[in-house]
Amino acid sequence: MGDGRGEEYLFKIVLIGDSAVGKSNLLSRFARNEFHANSKATIGVEFQTQSLKIDGREVQAQLWDTAGQERFRAVTSAYYRGAVGALIVYDITRKLTFDNVARWLDELRMHSDTILVTMLVGNKRDLGELREVLVEEGTAYAEAEGLMFLETSALDATNVNTAFHNVVKEIY
Ligand code: GTP
Ligand code: MG
Repeated sequence: MGDGRGEEYLFKIVLIGDSAVGKSNLLSRFARNEFHANSKATIGVEFQTQSLKIDGREVQAQLWDTAGQERFRAVTSAYYRGAVGALIVYDITRKLTFDNVARWLDELRMHSDTILVTMLVGNKRDLGELREVLVEEGTAYAEAEGLMFLETSALDATNVNTAFHNVVKEIY
């Protein structure tokens, strides 16, 4: 950037949600346009910095991905520290992952001192015939909690860029 203001435009965004909802694949689809049909569960924390253009300005999004499984999770407070945005992901084919969104939201709110720009993401939209959570249920929950909302597919790339862009744009 070189204008001495670069730091203003580095946004930490965290991905949370149950195991196997597709957090790591949303990230790999967005950052590298890759999808892995047999990806392994994340252990600990990984992050990736991706630049985006928002209103003609270059913005760096530092995207953090952690394990949905409790036993593989790293120190929670460090994960959330400094985050300005969050994506809470569930799997539209597994109702339980949607029911657990409330717990993720509690954890997020407990660990963040500011109000984060948060998007609820119903992933695996390509598996419509196995759907257990209606679009309307996602919409209603998001509206009640003041979250943004989108359904995505990391597999066919539907709404993946839009989800990340909309969060960054809202922060910016
Ligand atoms: P943890 O790291 O354990 O928290 O899981 P995760 O949320 O990172 O899930 P991951 O991205 O590893 O995906 C889990 C499984 O779901 C993998 O087999 C993926 O290929 C599959 N998957 C992820 N996104 C999609 C999607 O949009 N559609 C379909 N059909 N499968 C998906
Ligand atoms: Mg993962």
